[in-house]
Amino acid sequence: MNARPQKIVCIGAGYVGGPTMAVIAARCPDVQVTVLDLNAARIAAWNSESLPVFEPGLPEVVRQVRGRNLHFLAQAQGVAALAEADVVFISVQTPTKTSGAGAGKASDLQYVEACARLIAEHARGHTIVVEKSTMPVRAAERIQQILSTTQTGGTFAVLSNPEFLAEGTAIRDLEQPDRVLIGGEDPAAVAALKSIYATWVAPEKILTTGLWSAELSKLAANAFLAQRVSSINALSALCEKTGAEVAEVAAVVGTDSRIGPKFLQASVGFGGSCFQKDLLSLIYLCEHHGLPEVAAYWQGVVDINEWQKHRFAKVVQQVAVSGRIAVLGLAFKKDTNDFRESAALAVCRSLLQAGLEVVAYDPRVDGSRFAAELGHPARFSVASTVSAALAGAGAVAVLTEWEEFKSIAWASVQLLPGAVICDGRNVVDRAAVQQAGYGLRVIGSAAP
Ligand code: NAD
Ligand code: UGA
Repeated sequence: MNARPQKIVCIGAGYVGGPTMAVIAARCPDVQVTVLDLNAARIAAWNSESLPVFEPGLPEVVRQVRGRNLHFLAQAQGVAALAEADVVFISVQTPTKTSGAGAGKASDLQYVEACARLIAEHARGHTIVVEKSTMPVRAAERIQQILSTTQTGGTFAVLSNPEFLAEGTAIRDLEQPDRVLIGGEDPAAVAALKSIYATWVAPEKILTTGLWSAELSKLAANAFLAQRVSSINALSALCEKTGAEVAEVAAVVGTDSRIGPKFLQASVGFGGSCFQKDLLSLIYLCEHHGLPEVAAYWQGVVDINEWQKHRFAKVVQQVAVSGRIAVLGLAFKKDTNDFRESAALAVCRSLLQAGLEVVAYDPRVDGSRFAAELGHPARFSVASTVSAALAGAGAVAVLTEWEEFKSIAWASVQLLPGAVICDGRNVVDRAAVQQAGYGLRVIGSAAP
């Protein structure tokens, strides 16, 4: 095989597979990149003007390379590409298992295993199989086992190359990563994959480790990040009791160069498809390996996050002056259309269960998909503007830090008199709210 791979296939055209392959294709014009997905509608969207993933900068990159050296194909049409691939990335979902051994904690590897079987069946010659999805430590063993028992003549090397991009900043994270991690035991395969990233990433930022370290490092990095959010959120509750301001505390703590200023923003709780599932996967691994104390330590990070979301929802219920609540922000963070595990899902469920009516607004989230996720409750509706969501509400819950929520002209909105704005992101213009005569409750700040 040529030392520098010429043909790459990625299985899974999601939030990771699509943007990652677009950036590889853009940076490596000599490499042909094919992205496959079972979901034909998602592939059609990747081939359209309306991409399935909202990410700043993504449309520009896709436009540059699509049809040139980046091809999105439905799996049934594109599976032949596997025969010629030098490298195959597995970038499918690894959600928490919902049944069987480890249900509720362990990662469900059924989608990954299906990919391994597909590769074993269709690959020819020597193929480097790359775990891009986040896996439990030693998952590569399972992939190797499937490849060796089902193979039809090919040879394989398995590498771990976890992805560290964050949604909303995916293109920047891919173009200027803090690091790229390649774990593997086969030096030729590691060198081949490294040659792709080395096209645009400085060599000292391409870290190589053993397979198991790479797999565990990804879970560990997400656990550390989630732990920081739970730490500042735990302190936010103490700030509300004592009169300390969580933003001030975070700013002071973050000036210590050993701690650093990032990821100390108190919030209504972390969301997204990964933090909770990766923490649960880590907890399961600890329990499985007979380390209950370690499992309990990380469980605390999950528990604080659950508590924070419910604590916030309770405040909204308590302060509302009517049964109609405006929810601003459904995405799990700004600059994404992703609402998987968002704090908004938990808060809306809690408000609806309490018998309240919810009118929601988000600039990017597809409201009908969000409503479907909630089970289409009668008392949930979606407004197309901030002012429409606010009209007649007795309380407002700000759940995503979208820029437009920072400059709402509170004096000209039509909330009920005495309505209270509950800011779960510390983004609302406090002076404007006070001047308009509405109440205000901010996470990590004592009630006036
Ligand atoms: P996603 O659900 O957006 O995309 C996964 C895609 O894989 C789906 O489109 C699905 O149809 C497809 N798929 C599933 N099984 C398939 C199969 N057998 N053949 C072909 N296609 C198949 O998921 P995602 O957010 O892109 O995450 C993928 C992985 O990357 C996860 O393990 C996640 O933990 C990890 N990760 C995600 C992020 C993120 O920001 N979303 C960041 C880093 C790592
Ligand atoms: C996170 C990690 O940051 C990525 O490195 C990782 O690749 C990814 O998970 C993954 O494995 O999926 P992501 O979930 O996209 O990325 O977004 P983050 O910016 O990490 O935010 C996660 C959640 O934490 C959001 O709900 C965000 O609002 C919340 N958060 C973040 C806070 O509440 N406070 C903060 O200070 C930072």
